[in-house]
Amino acid sequence: MNFMVLNTGPTAAITDLVSGMYLPSSFATPGATVNESFVPQGWMTTPATIKLYDNVIRHNCRTCHVSQTGFTDWGSFTSFTMEQHMATYVCSPGSVAMPHAEVPSRRYWNSGARAHLLNAMNLHLACAP
Ligand code: HEC
Repeated sequence: MNFMVLNTGPTAAITDLVSGMYLPSSFATPGATVNESFVPQGWMTTPATIKLYDNVIRHNCRTCHVSQTGFTDWGSFTSFTMEQHMATYVCSPGSVAMPHAEVPSRRYWNSGARAHLLNAMNLHLACAP
């Protein structure tokens, strides 16, 4: 299935993700298994960026944002830091827009993900779902 995805001309972040998840095999190798803990090269900057990816992006944001184009694909920590509207989207009183789906939203608020994100981005905000 991922082989088919890559044949549709997906975004750079999807190509990076799907290719990397099967390393050291190729996604085209029959029987190749997915490395669930794969971290894209662009997030391997420091232990803190890897932690941010593992605790926030991977389970709460990646599914949607990886298919976006431009810096909001968050294919790297650098692209993530270009985001100017993080506080508005993740922590606006009465209107928390992101994560924009029920399952990741519940997971985000019921885990330490919000705290990880706010700490990592140095956002000193108090917000609740
Ligand atoms: C179900 C899909 C989905 C999930 C999950 C999701 N997003 Fe989004 N996000 C979107 C879409 C679609 C947009 C663009 C729509 C918009 O700008 O209003 C967006 C836009 C954003 C923006 C504004 C981007 C800009 O225009 O500058 C931020 C910030 C953001 N998301 C943060 C997050 C964070 C942080 C997470 C995970 C904790 C997350 N999102 C999870 C779909 C999603």
